[in-house]
Amino acid sequence: MNRVIVLLALLLGATMSVALRRPPVNPPAPPALSMEVALRPPPGVSKLLRRACYDCHSNETRWPWYSRVPGVGNLLERDVTNARAAFNFSEWGAGPYRRPRVGAAMLLGMCASIREGQMPGKNYRMLHPDAKPSPAEIDEFCVWGRTEAKRAMQGAQRNSTERAQRIQTPRVMRIARRLD
Ligand code: HEC
Repeated sequence: MNRVIVLLALLLGATMSVALRRPPVNPPAPPALSMEVALRPPPGVSKLLRRACYDCHSNETRWPWYSRVPGVGNLLERDVTNARAAFNFSEWGAGPYRRPRVGAAMLLGMCASIREGQMPGKNYRMLHPDAKPSPAEIDEFCVWGRTEAKRAMQGAQRNSTERAQRIQTPRVMRIARRLD
């Protein structure tokens, strides 16, 4: 009886190892381009983002074992590709958000998405219960994000042409005031 079980287990193991796909490979994450170098967030903010966002919005994804299961892995990979395209903490210095206005809008959008419980998504929260941001963490992120966004906007105002200010600045500042 025992032998049959061992044999079945071996057979199952062999089948699985043939069927499993290779884990996805992360693109490089050079520190010089990171959001942490560009914006220098406080440690608490960094910790939250690394715990709750980096698996999708960075090149430092910790791929779970089930990302090797065909089908499941493809879905996860597609999700991460879309998330990185939206914004990527590992390529902050190279993405559109390195421009102060875009970065400011992005930070305010992140605050809203965390506050409303949209991010991280429901499925991710279910599989990573410890990723859920605490109310104190949400507050810390949003206070920092607003301050950072305002600072970026003030810098941008000094540097940009009048026309660009008229078109873009008031919109982001209005959002920033609403969040106050
Ligand atoms: C399981 C993967 C996953 C995790 C974890 C995750 N996101 Fe996302 N996020 C996505 C995907 C996918 C999109 C792009 C949706 C689309 O293309 O419509 C997205 C989009 C966004 C957007 C919208 C960007 C835009 O251009 O409008 C914001 C803001 C955002 N995420 C913030 C966060 C924050 C903040 C965290 C961490 C607290 C987080 N996300 C964690 C997958 C994730």
